[in-house]
Amino acid sequence: MARIVAGVTSSHVPAIGAAIDNHRTSEPYWQRVFEGFERSKEWMAKTRPDVCIVVYNDHASAFSVEMIPTFALGTAAEFPIADEGWGPRPVPVVKGHPELASHIAQSVILDEFDLTLCNKMEVDHGLTVPLNLMFGSPKEWPCPIIPLAVNVVQFPPPTGNRCFNLGKAIKKAVESYPQDLRVVVFGTGGMSHQISGQRAGLINSKFDHAFLDGLTKNPKKLTRLSHLELMREAGAEGVEMVMWLIMRGALDEKVDEVYRFYTVPASNTAVGHIILENRIKGAKKAAAKSKKPAPKLKRAAALQKVHRVRS
Ligand SMILES: [Fe+2]
Repeated sequence: MARIVAGVTSSHVPAIGAAIDNHRTSEPYWQRVFEGFERSKEWMAKTRPDVCIVVYNDHASAFSVEMIPTFALGTAAEFPIADEGWGPRPVPVVKGHPELASHIAQSVILDEFDLTLCNKMEVDHGLTVPLNLMFGSPKEWPCPIIPLAVNVVQFPPPTGNRCFNLGKAIKKAVESYPQDLRVVVFGTGGMSHQISGQRAGLINSKFDHAFLDGLTKNPKKLTRLSHLELMREAGAEGVEMVMWLIMRGALDEKVDEVYRFYTVPASNTAVGHIILENRIKGAKKAAAKSKKPAPKLKRAAALQKVHRVRS
């Protein structure tokens, strides 16, 4: 059976991608941002998921502004990198997992979440920047990626509550997939920022920290935030954080926060990043806590000892 092992949130600021592509990551301004993801890359290398589901928003790259699906799931075998005006980013093509994606589509749609299915779709910085932050800049992305694009560009985006419940439906879908796969879910975008208008440049660190706390301990409370409250506190583009609630809904109720990083600013945005792990269940959990082998392993270890004594 497939299972979701962890969730990750990450900003997807386009300037972070430009800093990587133009080899500027060691400049003092950017070093502060990239250093915060060093431990995350180590965590990812250790976690080695079989598949990642990346919740992000398209920035008028794949869909233009003529068609804006609320939830669009990538079911293709591969997703080319979009040209966002200065050529496609020099990152590997994103390989999908059509079988799991189709299974998720079937399960989630029959659970009454009407997804748009994309058998052909380009992906932009909203998806590729978080991949760089978590995987670095490899020649090939180390695992298949299932993109889930969410409309946070044109009013009205889905509510936080709807997103949280979609996350739950995705969890149910993944857990009914017969193959043993370890899945990590990304929620991208945020944190507080506003790109235009009178409040352009708005950052609200107090709100961001409270949101990160809530994400770990009390996500239900966050689902009650209206769009207006989110935009008032976190800026017009801060509404992107509803996407984080899809990731959180896909995790167990109780999670372990294994890493958090927050810095201001990157471009005109607060960068917030958190890694949440589902807790290990049953005997494995007890064994992990006491650092003793699980019962089955204990028996095997005892048998081995007996064998050593005899031989
Ligand atoms: Fe964005």
